[in-house]
Amino acid sequence: MARPSALQATVWAFVGSISLYLGFVSLLTIPFLQNQAIYLNSVTLTWFQDVTIPEQWGFLRNQVTPFTLQTPDGETLHAWHILPIGLYQKHEQQLLAEPSGIVPDIAQSLGFQLLRDDPDALLVLYFHGAAGTLGSGWRPPSYRAMHAASPDKIHTVAIDYRGFGSSTGFTSEEGLLTDAITLAEWAMKEAQIPPSRIVIFGQPAHAFLRYGPGLVAPFVDVELLTATYRIAGMIPVLDPLAHFPPLLRFLHNFIVTKWPSKIKLAQFINRVEQLPAEESRYHITIIHAEDDYDIPWTHSEELFWHAVNATSPEGITYDELEKEKEETRLQLGAGGWLVNRESKKGSIREQIVKHGLHDKLMSYPVVSLAILRAFQRG
Ligand SMILES: *[C@@H]1O[C@H](CO)[C@@H](O)[C@H](O)[C@H]1NC(C)=O
Repeated sequence: MARPSALQATVWAFVGSISLYLGFVSLLTIPFLQNQAIYLNSVTLTWFQDVTIPEQWGFLRNQVTPFTLQTPDGETLHAWHILPIGLYQKHEQQLLAEPSGIVPDIAQSLGFQLLRDDPDALLVLYFHGAAGTLGSGWRPPSYRAMHAASPDKIHTVAIDYRGFGSSTGFTSEEGLLTDAITLAEWAMKEAQIPPSRIVIFGQPAHAFLRYGPGLVAPFVDVELLTATYRIAGMIPVLDPLAHFPPLLRFLHNFIVTKWPSKIKLAQFINRVEQLPAEESRYHITIIHAEDDYDIPWTHSEELFWHAVNATSPEGITYDELEKEKEETRLQLGAGGWLVNRESKKGSIREQIVKHGLHDKLMSYPVVSLAILRAFQRG
């Protein structure tokens, strides 16, 4: 048998990689695998590490209380209550004397009592993004950024959604919403914190926008995300297909999980705008880094537009808003730029920094400041 020529080998390698690629893409049309690809929840990035021992990620003994939450549909979610450092210092001796590890009843822990019994305590509900667990990557440093601007007052509670980390169940758009609402209700009922002292932090922004969100590196919706998302900047998941819009549209028919952030955000703003003045306000900050290669920052441009468009009955076109932004944009040099848009019921801010990648940004002072501002304006 003749040995294949170099050309033949190249052609076969090419055909081989195309069919591998199409094989991979067609796997993505199976809902279960699609969920895996979108949420990347099986990629824990904390293999062999136990999320009930937060000291592994640099926290002080009993600064973090690991506990569990029960959802109404029977799932068990793992959660962390992170004490702000100044408050920790004030109660250090008592905290050190408590047992450590997961608590059977959070209400018995000193940390929780410090949250519930302080009428000025502030609470960040923290929803992490795709992949990993409570302890992955830049999340631990970003919990510390939550209270950096007010180390006596700002508590953080973070959860692993169902299907992530040690939480039970499987991921689904509806399930994740249930989880988010479970945490929000826990905060209001068990911890007795009113919505005016709660800020939601999400990466990317999900759909539990009832209580006034702050968003970091959000995506517009899964359709645009699949066209632009790159895993760690190396593997352009559906990028080649993005050049064939009909094929991409065809594939989108199979995408069950759509996460239409832009629509959910617009609906949220629209609803608040129609409530009586004293009932509700929103302060939304969308933060994105220009060098984010996982989710391009232009997603935030579109999200900001949808948000602003929803503030008035007549709406605004993308180009009109761009023109307005040219005039109101605050240039921050190497720090990037920001635009702040006030409306009847709140404010929407788009802050684009030059440096911060996708995850690192969450631990930056720009985030600490946005959290503090959201509380002050709440
Ligand atoms: C902008 O708002 C208007 C008025 O509410 C609405 O009709 C339109 O669909 C919105 N545009 C987009 C792109 O959502």
